[in-house]
Amino acid sequence: MTVPKLALTENTDAAVGKTRADVLVIGTLQGEDGPELAAGADVADAAFDGKLADVLGTLGATGKAEEIVKLPALGKLPAGVVLAVGLGKQKDGTVTAEQVRRAAGAAARALSGTDRAFVTLSALDLQATAEGVALGAYAFTEYRSAKGDGPLAKADLVSPAEGAPRDHKATLKAATAIAESVIIARDLINTPPNDLYPASFADRAKKLAEANGLDFEVLDEKALKRKGFGGILGVGGGSARLPRLLRVGWKPAKAGKKVALVGKGITFDSGGISIKPAAGMDHMTSDMSGAAAVLASVVLAAKLKYPVEVTAHIPLAENLPSGSAYRPGDVLTMYGGKTVEVLNTDAEGRLVLADAIVRAAEENPDYLIETSTLTGAQVVALGNRTAGVMGSDEFRDRVATIMQSTGEGGWAMPLPDELRADLDSRLADLANVSGHRWGGMLVAGIFLREFVAEGLPWAHIDIAGPSFNTSAPWGYTGKGGTGVPVRTIAAVLADIADQG
Ligand code: BES
Ligand code: MN
Ligand code: ZN
Repeated sequence: MTVPKLALTENTDAAVGKTRADVLVIGTLQGEDGPELAAGADVADAAFDGKLADVLGTLGATGKAEEIVKLPALGKLPAGVVLAVGLGKQKDGTVTAEQVRRAAGAAARALSGTDRAFVTLSALDLQATAEGVALGAYAFTEYRSAKGDGPLAKADLVSPAEGAPRDHKATLKAATAIAESVIIARDLINTPPNDLYPASFADRAKKLAEANGLDFEVLDEKALKRKGFGGILGVGGGSARLPRLLRVGWKPAKAGKKVALVGKGITFDSGGISIKPAAGMDHMTSDMSGAAAVLASVVLAAKLKYPVEVTAHIPLAENLPSGSAYRPGDVLTMYGGKTVEVLNTDAEGRLVLADAIVRAAEENPDYLIETSTLTGAQVVALGNRTAGVMGSDEFRDRVATIMQSTGEGGWAMPLPDELRADLDSRLADLANVSGHRWGGMLVAGIFLREFVAEGLPWAHIDIAGPSFNTSAPWGYTGKGGTGVPVRTIAAVLADIADQG
């Protein structure tokens, strides 16, 4: 894990003008007639005799989102280079936190190999800048023999003009912890499936739990069998690397609301006997993104001492075809006793989740948040950057609204009752897939709902698209694991701490 060292610098012209750094980062806005300078750019502008916006315009800059222009400072600043990063257009006279986060991330990506940058975007929003810089600088080089230049090592962030220094320190601490947790998730997702399998995921989770004072419990295949976790055992039976179920818990000193988290942990999804096509199957290394996100979230709750009890339940299995694999036609008896007819072994996520959801409800939580790379249909419906949020009406809307405010992007989707009949089974209480391909994301949500305790407010976040970036880097998101929805879960926990 690599997060650049972030420090605060006083927001005075004298302090900004004296801070030694390799690069001075300023923000630009996309104005009607060319680029405009964002707050924090005064000292850089003075070094260009107040003509920095003109100079940037002459070079063809517009201030559009994530545009990067580098200029030599010609000895007039303690930094050798000025880097102007576009924030895009203002909306109603302001710049959103997400615009700042993306600009900060784009700047950090452009600064790989740089030892020290001085960043003024924090004059607009300290938290967003800190998160953007830390996440944008992230690179997963574990498996490269030549590590290259390395990410940006240190960043000094100018304090916003408003607010007390103490608050700024607290903001920076929270932002750093949040970014570190997103990176915990990204590292797990980016680790290839030959090294990350149920038992090794469990080992890593145990180390994290020990380091952060969390309760930790792991059920191995024998314990799963004894207790009747038929979904997890069914899915995990085809692999020589047998399944696990983890419970990782944070308990604050003073009891607050109880939140259960559940995350899909398929360490590799080949589809099983209902095998997937070869093209793009490697992408299924990321089928444990939900597990990574809920583990990282409970670690975060402990680091920031949220006054909320948070327990992550993480079912881990590898979905492979073999002589011991489960088959289409099998009937599984799930934890709690419901039976499921398996019609497609590639609809495995809902089976391991059902067991974990029933297990989670035994502890009588006030809320349940479950997240999973559950359906290709999510990507068809909402694309790669917008998660589908389902569940009980009120809590679903609350989570979707918060997900939009974090910039992770989520949209509330319905669970239409009429789809339940499509899961009727010839043999068992229900089947794991419907007989058609319509509304696949919602059908999966309907399946999960069958296992959620009556009256428990819950949200299901389908992150099949948003959890893994297969296209070019953008904003603070590189290729590979994104860490979505860690920041959303963090914000929901903070909201529950605040509002109940
Ligand atoms: N892990 C996949 C879903 C997925 C697809 C995640 C693409 C990320 C990108 C899941 O286990 C799966 O295979 N779902 C099936 C369900 C179907 C058999 C009803 C799907 O979406 O095709
Ligand atoms: Mn599958
Ligand atoms: Zn899957």
